[in-house]
Formats: sequence, structure tokens, C-alpha cells
Amino acid sequence: MTIINHFHRILHGGDYNPDQWLHIPGIIDRDFELMEQSCCNTFSVAIFSWGQIEVEEGKFDFSWLDDIFARCAESGKKLFLATPSAAKPAWLGKKYPESCKVRSDGHRDFWGKRQNNCLTSPIFREKVRQINRKLAERYANHPALGGWHISNEYNGEPCCCDLCIRKFHEFLKEKYGTLENLNKQYWSAFWGHHLTDWDQIHPLDGSMNTARLDWRRFITANTVEFFRMEIDAVREFSDAPVTTNMMGYYDPLDYWKFVPYCDFIADDCYPSWYHGETEETAVYFAMLHDLHYTMLGKPFVMMESCPGIPNYRPYVKLRRPNEFQREMLLALGHGADGTMYFQWRKGFGNCEKIHGAVVGHDGGDQTLAFKRVADYGNKLESLSGIVDSAKAPEAAVIYDWESNWALDLTNGFGGTETKKWQETARLHYRALWEKNIDLAVIDSDQPFDSYKLIVAPMLFMLKKGVAERLKRFVENGGTLVMTYLSAYVDENNACFFGGNPGGPDLRRFFGIWNEDIDGLEPSSDQTLLWNGKKYRVSDYAEYLHAEGAEVTGVYGGEFYKGSPALTVMRQGKGKAVYLAARTGLDFLSDFYGKLLEETGIRPVLEGMPTGVKASRRTAANGDAYYFLLNMTEEPQTVVLPRELREIWGTDTLRKSVEIPSRGGTVLKG
Ligand code: GAL
Repeated sequence: MTIINHFHRILHGGDYNPDQWLHIPGIIDRDFELMEQSCCNTFSVAIFSWGQIEVEEGKFDFSWLDDIFARCAESGKKLFLATPSAAKPAWLGKKYPESCKVRSDGHRDFWGKRQNNCLTSPIFREKVRQINRKLAERYANHPALGGWHISNEYNGEPCCCDLCIRKFHEFLKEKYGTLENLNKQYWSAFWGHHLTDWDQIHPLDGSMNTARLDWRRFITANTVEFFRMEIDAVREFSDAPVTTNMMGYYDPLDYWKFVPYCDFIADDCYPSWYHGETEETAVYFAMLHDLHYTMLGKPFVMMESCPGIPNYRPYVKLRRPNEFQREMLLALGHGADGTMYFQWRKGFGNCEKIHGAVVGHDGGDQTLAFKRVADYGNKLESLSGIVDSAKAPEAAVIYDWESNWALDLTNGFGGTETKKWQETARLHYRALWEKNIDLAVIDSDQPFDSYKLIVAPMLFMLKKGVAERLKRFVENGGTLVMTYLSAYVDENNACFFGGNPGGPDLRRFFGIWNEDIDGLEPSSDQTLLWNGKKYRVSDYAEYLHAEGAEVTGVYGGEFYKGSPALTVMRQGKGKAVYLAARTGLDFLSDFYGKLLEETGIRPVLEGMPTGVKASRRTAANGDAYYFLLNMTEEPQTVVLPRELREIWGTDTLRKSVEIPSRGGTVLKG
């Protein structure tokens, strides 16, 4: 299925804000010329246009939007029409102050800015429903409508107004049924915090780990409910696909909960490409792209990216040659069917006037940014075969929002600077990505059966049923790697009775007892000895006992020298591996290299030099597309394992291929 029905093209375009330019004659005509020149075919409109459409309460002006729709229909372009709930008009915020968020210090925001709405407020919901219905009614059957861009980057900063808190209490009633049950789950005898009324539950009470966890769950649930309300309003008239643009690893919202209501996944990506950080940056975004492909198991859209550098970065660098195309190819190679920009034309005023855009303040086609976008856009036609093509990952990394929240809200193990769950997941991902294999990124609620290898880095929380599902995965022949700080708490952030990991049953399954954890200060010289080599260990080393597992790696220092640091337990047709210490990329790279051999997971293309990374997409007709990216600042020659056709900027059969410095290419075969 294509992202936009019957539109078999890689989506290319971006956020378009023509309503900022209505007072300057000729601009919109010029926009449409430049769009043609750069082969842009899809735009998101009206994202922040509520105030330009509903100019006064109940008084609407669609004239400028009608014009944009007409021009797009005429020129064969598509529009993702946004519901404008992210930023409300001044009249609305002034007249209905309850539509603004109350911050944790009790102060209500003033109407300005954006994404500062109370999503519970009945009047705000009603006003959003009305404007969404108006838009849907008007444009549902328009040939230029490609889909619905619901709101913009929903914000997970809580609103702490009385309504939201009361709704949170209702959420808890629904979840726990009785106060007695809640008291039990909340371990509320601690500090004598036994609760005798629902309204005594304060979401910001730092002593109540589980209440705070539930508060985060509530914020996601309330935002998803709002998202669904927005979709329902649109659906009264239109069945075009819907999405909302996510913000990568954004911690306050568990994006997996939005997935069932999205027809396709959209994400906003803003890398910086600083010198010396190329691979880290590529890994950061490759993992996100894999997450977004995995969410619906089909291509997603990189809804925003920047042809320059965002203005909020410490160094707003000019893009170095080829970097921009490599960034776009990274997204396509990892499963995007569209790469779009924020934004089409740079405005003259306010807080984003210096942010990179396709068309600059000169308004012409001679800027680096425009020429690069046009060059890329013109080449994109050669890749139309990748539209709707698939990835086939045999390995998955678990990245679980709720588990991360639980660890974050648990006092102990140092602070976020040592816990570093996101960096840890990425380091494991990176060790695998460097081997040029296809990867999935899942949370612990997703099916496990299609993988040969599952990596669970710091899966602190085991939700109901997860231990059983992981066990089944292993017994059926899978390899599971679980690390330190995994399986410490259940879904209520309560510790397991009977020891770690995960209580007696899982402990038996792994054949180990994780008695305690040694928090290592930076000067520690603890090591892990494995396969005849010594690797540095930092931050965390668990004090483990083997209870049936084979010990394959041991600690090199401290009073527990020689005790297990890495264990393997065979169960059924598979194995459960436990890595008890935090290591660097050196160990993970060696360790996963061996594990991939054992599990028979092959690179998508053999023989890549270090510094060149490969990913693959396969079309329904069997055509494979290989994306080769040069992560170095030198050109690279790649000798191919077989003859392949280079289709990026050329159409030539090759036995070896040259990739320019910081560049990329695409091969078919
Ligand atoms: C995104 C947002 C856009 C724009 C962009 C700038 O987060 O959705 O509207 O502000 O950032 O980088």
C-alpha cells in the first residue's frame, strides 16, 4: 500500500506555510515554480493556521487554503492537511483561559506559544472538534487531499489543572477498582501513606514511584484519547489516511500507544552531523527509522527534516557536500517512503526565521540548500521501485518507554547521567548496525516470534506476560540477550519476590541469581574477561551467581574477581544470555559478531569496508535495493560481492562502486 492512496511516488516536500506570505504578491506563484523545479510533490499545510482560518470565533476564511488546494490539484501535488490544534488563536486562549495548560507550579500558561493546551478542557476539545469537522467537510473529496496530519508533535508536558487531576483519579479507579487494591499495589504503608480517598493521590508526589508512573501513563492515555477525538471528527467526512508526527525518542509520551490509530507513521528528524560524530548521529537516526518502520511493519514518512541546520543547535553549520543526500538515503534505506522538510520557505520573523529551509530569504533557486534539494528531488524518480518495499529484520532491540519510566522514577542506581537507558539501547543497536544487518526496534508488548535474536538492554520492567513470552521465544529456538538492570520490577514498579532476574521462575530460566549490583565510580578499573580478551566495565557490574548457566565471561577485578559477568543458559531449542555489566562498544561489537555467526544472521551485503554502512529494502517483485552510505570524509571504493546496478544518479552495472566522501548511493539487484 502506498502512503497516499494511488500515489506511487516517494513523498518529497515539506511543511508549507503560505498563510505567512499572503500579503506579499507573487510569492505563492514563485513557490509553485520552485516546487516543480525541485520535484516536490507533497506538502503539509495549515499546521499552525487555526488563527488564519477561524479568524474570529465562528467566522471562517478558507480562501487562501482553497487556492493552495486548487494549485496542488492542478499540478498533481498532494497535501497532508493538518488539524491545527497545536497552536490556538489568540481569541480562543483569551476567551477560554481554561484551554491553556496549568504547569506543575500551579500557574496557568498565557494563550501564546504552542502545544500548551489542556487536552482535557471540554471547551478546547469542542473547539478542536469543530475546526477539524469544518476542514474535513470542506476538503474530504478534494483531489489534492493526500492525508491528515493530526495536530503537530503532541506535547507530553503535563497539565496539572483540577480537571486533569480529577480525570487521573478516574483513570486510577478504572485501573485498580478499589482503593484497597491501589494501596496494595502502591506499597502505601511506606511512610504511612495509606490512602483513604482517591483525591488524596497526588501525581507529583516524588515518594510514590507507582503514582508517578501511572501519571505518565495517564498523560499518554489522555493524549491518545485526544488524538482519537481529532481523528473521529475528521472521519465523519473523510477516509484519507491519518498520522501524527512523532518526535523520535521523546520521553514524555509512549508513542507505541498511538500506533493502532495511525494509518502510517510519521517522525521528525533533525541531525546535526558534527565533525567526529558521524556514526553516532547516523546510529541515532537509523535506530529511530527502524523503530518507525517496525511500528506498523511498513514504510513511514520522515515528515520533517532540515536542509540546513536547525537554529536551536549550538553550531548552526552549513551542510558539507553530500551530507544532505546521505541523510535522506539513510531514511529511505531504513524504510521511509517519504522525506520531507521543515520548512519550505524561511519566514522573515519570529523564532524560526533563522532555521534552515528549502527556500531562503533571497527567495531564489541559487542557494546551497535549494540546489541540494532540487538535485536530490530530481534523482528520486530513479528510486520509485522502493515505494512500499519491505525490510526483513531477523534481530530486534527492545526499547520500552514504560520500562524506561520505571527506571527513571526508581530512586537508586545513580541518576539519569549513569542510568543512560537510551544510550545503552543505542549502543547495543550500534554494535549490530555496524554489522550491516537489518534490525527491528520493538517494545516488550510486540510479538517476538519473527526474530532469531532479541536484545533486551536494561529492560528494567517486566510487564505482565512478558517473561512468559520471552521464555517461549527462547524455547522455540530464539536467542535472547538480557543485560544488567533488567527484570527488577513488575508493571507497577514493584520489586520481585524471590530475587532477580524477575523472581524465581525467570531466575531458573536464566540459570543465575543476580544478588546485587555494584555501582562503579568513574575511577574503577573493573573489567570483563571474555574469549581471551579483557574489556573495560563502567557504571554497573552485577554480583551474579551461576545456578545452572554456563559462565562464558567473568569479572577481572574486585573481591568478586572470577565470578560470572556473562552467562548462557540453553533452554529448549534456544538460549538465554545474561550480560551483567556495562561495557563499551568494543566488547559489544566482538560479542555480537560471534552471536550473529551462531544465529546465522547475515549482513544485507557482504564485504562492506568499515566506514560504509549498508541497508536493504526488498520490493514485492523480489527486486532488492541496497543503500550504501559513506560515514567517512574520504571517498570509499566498495568491491561488490556480485554485479549490481547502480541507480542513484546513473544507471550502470557495477562490480565495484565509488561512494563520495560523506555521500551515499543505491544499487539494485
Ligand atoms: C519541529 C516542529 C516544527 C518546527 C521544527 C523546527 O519540532 O514540528 O513546527 O518548529 O521543529 O526544527
